[in-house]
Amino acid sequence: MRSLINILDFSVEELQELIDTANDIIARPEAYSQVCRGKKLATLFFEPSTRTRLSFEAAMYELGGNVIGFSEANSSSAAKGESVADTAKTISCYADIIAMRHPKEGAPLVAAANASIPVINAGDGGHNHPTQTLADLLTIYREKGRFSDLTVGLCGDLKFGRTVHSLINALSRYENVRFVLISPEELKLPSYVKKDVLRRQGIPYEQTTDLEKAMPDLDILYMTRVQRERFFNEEDYLRLKDSYILTPEKLKNASKDLCIMHPLPRVNEISVAVDDDPRACYFKQVLNGKYMRMALIMKLLKEAGRI
Ligand code: NCD
Repeated sequence: MRSLINILDFSVEELQELIDTANDIIARPEAYSQVCRGKKLATLFFEPSTRTRLSFEAAMYELGGNVIGFSEANSSSAAKGESVADTAKTISCYADIIAMRHPKEGAPLVAAANASIPVINAGDGGHNHPTQTLADLLTIYREKGRFSDLTVGLCGDLKFGRTVHSLINALSRYENVRFVLISPEELKLPSYVKKDVLRRQGIPYEQTTDLEKAMPDLDILYMTRVQRERFFNEEDYLRLKDSYILTPEKLKNASKDLCIMHPLPRVNEISVAVDDDPRACYFKQVLNGKYMRMALIMKLLKEAGRI
């Protein structure tokens, strides 16, 4: 059974197919409005979410399908001690496809191994978030028209930020991509990502704490929130939370074609004064995420022979 747990589960060609489908949905939404009629998406969210869960739900409704699920671990049998494996087997009796968010790294992988329907990882702990990457890829494609020859600045919590880990994995497969990793010392990209993804493939990257110095070189600036829920103590969070705040002033030396991204929710990382800058793409990312999730749901249900 085909699932999406890690963005590398899909080839570059498959990602391009999803992008082409999403662009076609944007052009002709009515052609897709009944594709999933009578099918059910189960959203199993064991962690807070606004965009990801509602985006999956909106995506399924716009395909003519239905949604069941829960948005709090406390309201599910997990609170009684049920295992992820048993939950996955149970939901397979009710639904056609699962989107799961879980605080434990690897939980969606366990679900996929036990479900008889496709499972989509909607974020697992500080590990991966492949469907945010789908939103990011469509945004980059629509704004830049390419994935190669890009200097990509990733700024903020690179240690716990799962969207960053998935995006690096995805972009590392294209030609001539360079990363500038901008973070406080304590929140640097985990060494397993540097070693297994960047160094193994000889992808150029530099690490810095200085956002303004890095700015002029960037084609893309991907800001992230400091992931409070993954900290062991509140003091460290309070000390690090406002490490980077993007303001119009700090964009003075940026390229006029810069694409400013953020997976959202934002706390303080981007001043609202930046929102009117034509280079601000973060709300476009939200919309693009819905179209890519529509394309993804269709792909997995087709491969499972359910539509
Ligand atoms: C991200 C996440 O959940 O990892 N949010 C999202 O899904 N767009 C980013 C974050 O919470 O900071």
